[in-house]
Amino acid sequence: MIPRLRTSTRPGKQFVWLCLWNDVRRLPRVHRVIDAGCGPMLNRPMFDADEYVGIDPDERGLQQGLERFPDAVGVHSTIAEAPDIEGQVVVCTQVLASAPFDPGETIATVRALVRLTEPGGILLFNTSSRTSAYEESVHAILRESFESVRRVRYGAMYERHLPWWASLLIAVTMVALPALRGDGASYYACSGRLRLRD
Ligand SMILES: C[S@@+](CC[C@H](N)C(=O)[O-])C[C@H]1O[C@@H](n2cnc3c(N)ncnc32)[C@H](O)[C@@H]1O
Repeated sequence: MIPRLRTSTRPGKQFVWLCLWNDVRRLPRVHRVIDAGCGPMLNRPMFDADEYVGIDPDERGLQQGLERFPDAVGVHSTIAEAPDIEGQVVVCTQVLASAPFDPGETIATVRALVRLTEPGGILLFNTSSRTSAYEESVHAILRESFESVRRVRYGAMYERHLPWWASLLIAVTMVALPALRGDGASYYACSGRLRLRD
């Protein structure tokens, strides 16, 4: 299944959607995807999965998602306080960049994202300038938790709004020319979650 590409008027955000699309298109059908901080479940159509679980503390967003995708499972919780479930793939987009997210929760949230990923599984998420003070600690947690960690920095032009097609054009150019991406935010693709030590 070729996933649908999400679009944005912000080049930085569009870059995240391109990275995500490129990783998701390589995935086989999976048994469970967890969308951590799912909002109205806009990521749902990207995944070929037996089960889609959306976690979000915002009841309204969760409810909108469940109305659109009645076969989804909704969990009303923050990521850090989510119950003990595991997904073969965990996705968390635009959550650490969102206004309701408390940057002080960054480390607890990233640890929880690791916990939600089943052994051998994949974690795809992005950080933001709001969480940049924690960037190196986040990277260290991921490196000790996964066999492979790919970090793509992309902070440039994050806040600028453009027509979606211009945003897409710039995002594609950012893929081709790493020097244009800037720092301050990162997209992470982590695979092969290692078993947690007690
Ligand atoms: C910009 S929306 C992104 C929604 C969705 N991930 C997407 O990419 O379309 C940010 C979402 O993060 C959720 N959020 C904020 N803090 C959170 C936390 N600590 N745990 C889980 N979700 C959180 C908000 O309720 C909101 O639904």
